[in-house]
Amino acid sequence: MNQVDYLRISLIDRCNFRCQYCMPEGVELDYILKQQLLSDEELLTLIQEVFIPLGFSRFRLTGGEPLLRPRVVDLVSAIASFPQTQDLSITTNGFLLAPMAQDLYDAGLRRINISLDSLDPDTFDKIISNRSRSRWQQVWDGIQVAYQVGFDPLKLNVVVIPGVNDGEVLDLAALTIHRQWHVRFIEFMPIGNLNLFGDRGWVSSAELRQRIRERWGLIESQVSGSGPADVFKIPGAEGTLGFISQMSECFCDRCNRMRLSADGWLRPCLLNETGQLDLKTALRSGTSTAQLKEQVRRLLAIKPEINFKARDSGIKGVYTRTMSQIGG
Ligand code: GTP
Ligand code: 5AD
Ligand code: SF4
Repeated sequence: MNQVDYLRISLIDRCNFRCQYCMPEGVELDYILKQQLLSDEELLTLIQEVFIPLGFSRFRLTGGEPLLRPRVVDLVSAIASFPQTQDLSITTNGFLLAPMAQDLYDAGLRRINISLDSLDPDTFDKIISNRSRSRWQQVWDGIQVAYQVGFDPLKLNVVVIPGVNDGEVLDLAALTIHRQWHVRFIEFMPIGNLNLFGDRGWVSSAELRQRIRERWGLIESQVSGSGPADVFKIPGAEGTLGFISQMSECFCDRCNRMRLSADGWLRPCLLNETGQLDLKTALRSGTSTAQLKEQVRRLLAIKPEINFKARDSGIKGVYTRTMSQIGG
């Protein structure tokens, strides 16, 4: 069994994009009210007094769009300063990144994953439901600045949507040839019942690998470890290609993570709510962190069964919460 030492922390459920596969324009989501968000202090208390003592040492900040969280740089700095923090990372859409990248790095952030579903500004805008001035360039600038600042690894996430961006796979893969970037192709999950691309199906990682292999050849790069991506390389390339294949291959058995939503629900599995704990309400009603730690310990003990259930029920079930609400 993998050690579960990685917590994905959603800082906010709001986003400045409206990706069609996540929170499409025009659909009203029930946003978390400000007073229902975990405060900075509550979040840091949970990390320090519940998760770190249980062996968590790796933290990823997600959203919504985590850079929309007020004082996010201070939060990064506080989490990075815990001596037990071995790894601190963020998953962002990159739109606000350029002016913040240096401050985030200086605060102790080292790893960054940025969504980049297309190299074509029109396709990009279509995916994020943008009808005003193109947003692609600002995201691209954010990626360049993050690279210059020294984020390593710098990963680019591509959700592959049939008929929308799957024709760009070779161009996106080519980004890794001369740059130390890690481009990851993610099989599109029909998650959340708002998902406008839900009926388009998905392209398997195996098929994408075949296309890339025919063009350049492809070699296995490193043991994928406990993360979701299988990692490959175009021969001679500086960067790598990752494939996140939750639709075609189940990686639940090597799952090493739990998720904390912005309103304080601890969720043992992306696709299964079984056993989730409302840590914020417990904390606010006076439950001690020692008691919370015990509850989380019990949840950790049953996590493997919860993972298996997610696999057995298949990913095709109806998942009502969007990625922005769960935290990606
Ligand atoms: P690192 O391995 O730490 O770089 O992070 P990551 O690849 O897990 O993080 P990222 O936020 O970039 O997520 C990339 C994709 O992997 C997203 O589509 C996630 O939803 C998916 N993913 C991450 N964790 C899980 C998981 O536990 N289960 C499933 N099914 N998908 C996951
Ligand atoms: N299927 C696969 N990946 C998704 N993401 C968001 N929604 C989906 C989905 N339905 C990706 C984002 C981001 C990461 C956190 O999750 O594009 O890269
Ligand atoms: Fe925002 Fe990410 Fe959802 Fe796109 S996938 S709408 S960037 S939270």
